[in-house]
Amino acid sequence: MDASPLDIDRIRRDFPILQKTVNDKPLVYLDNAATAQKPQAVIDAISNYYSGCNANVHRGVHRLSVDATDAYEGARSKIREFIGAGRVEEIIYVRGATEAINLVAQTYGQANVGTGDEVIISTLEHHSNIVPWQILCKQLGATLRVVPINDAGEFLFDEYEAMLGPRTKLVAINHVSNALGTINPVKRIVEKAHEHGAAVLVDGAQAVPHVMVDVRALDCDFYTFSSHKLFGPTGVGALYGKFDILEAMPLYQSGGDMIKSVTFEKTTYNDLPYRFEAGTPNIAGAVGLGAAIDYVTELGMDNIARYEHDLGRYAAEALSSVPEVRLIGTAREKAAVVSFVVDGVHPHDIGTILDQEGIAIRTGHHCAQPVMERFGVVATARASMAFYNTRDEIDKLVDAVTKVIKVFR
Ligand code: ALA
Repeated sequence: MDASPLDIDRIRRDFPILQKTVNDKPLVYLDNAATAQKPQAVIDAISNYYSGCNANVHRGVHRLSVDATDAYEGARSKIREFIGAGRVEEIIYVRGATEAINLVAQTYGQANVGTGDEVIISTLEHHSNIVPWQILCKQLGATLRVVPINDAGEFLFDEYEAMLGPRTKLVAINHVSNALGTINPVKRIVEKAHEHGAAVLVDGAQAVPHVMVDVRALDCDFYTFSSHKLFGPTGVGALYGKFDILEAMPLYQSGGDMIKSVTFEKTTYNDLPYRFEAGTPNIAGAVGLGAAIDYVTELGMDNIARYEHDLGRYAAEALSSVPEVRLIGTAREKAAVVSFVVDGVHPHDIGTILDQEGIAIRTGHHCAQPVMERFGVVATARASMAFYNTRDEIDKLVDAVTKVIKVFR
């Protein structure tokens, strides 16, 4: 047994959905990389916001607007502290990591990448950290280069170093792979890019819920994550950017809140971070995200990381003890994600039969088709864990996979 200071039984009671049954079986939720479940504290924060202080932010002198603004900006401060940024002006609210990457591509990218330049990504990227760069490179006549991975699903650092050069303007890399769980050596990747004068964007969507992140220690230029994978609501997330870089960046969307003054002749633009936040934002979402950060901070990110590391190893060992199961992605540094295939059984069939047992996993290409191609599969079954999952649930997963294999033999 583990000696985690986390009281998992108590924690599970904080999540109403975990009390649910699916197909008359207790829900075993192992699809946390797709979206994580929400504790009552987050649900209450959103509900209290709407029932207690709903109003638009930055616009009114009336009580409700002041309270809404305080709650919204208070959440921004929590994000700053949570990821170790130096200033609140460096935290821009976005709809999620996907929007943040598009924002950086079409502002920083448009201004700093030119014809003949290069943008580097890796085979491990989610489509959202591939397509925006593909579009940018096409627009500018630049080249997209891809760092390969080895058979364990690990980023090949030597190949990366060899790719860097005077034409490299930007490196975009995920911190943790959604499809395999590989944890990338982000700090070293940033150091090397900076030696060549290239900026680095880190897609932290799969990292922030599971490991302690310190953007100043990583020294990345941009870092982004989505609230919904961090036990907060959907439709909101954050983009961190270094202050001087954000200050120099061209505008993204325009409209209300990103301006200081408008006449038909001339518009002057707002200060950071509002300059990149046109229109009424997702205020309730931001408040919910703030509550989610409070929740995980209370548990302790170190405690979460240790507990999940142990659970992930347990799951990988248990599944790999089933002879018909082949694990896809066996990196030394891994988050608690286990991707696997069973020869002769389509992952969708595995997912459907597991659902009959109340077990939720994701099957498919996980929006990471190049990863699938690298391993010669069209899809995998993926169990992705959070701190509320247990060894008992992993045992149920393994029993259910064994049942699936029997059905197909
Ligand atoms: N990116 C999410 C996943 O990995 C949706 O499932």
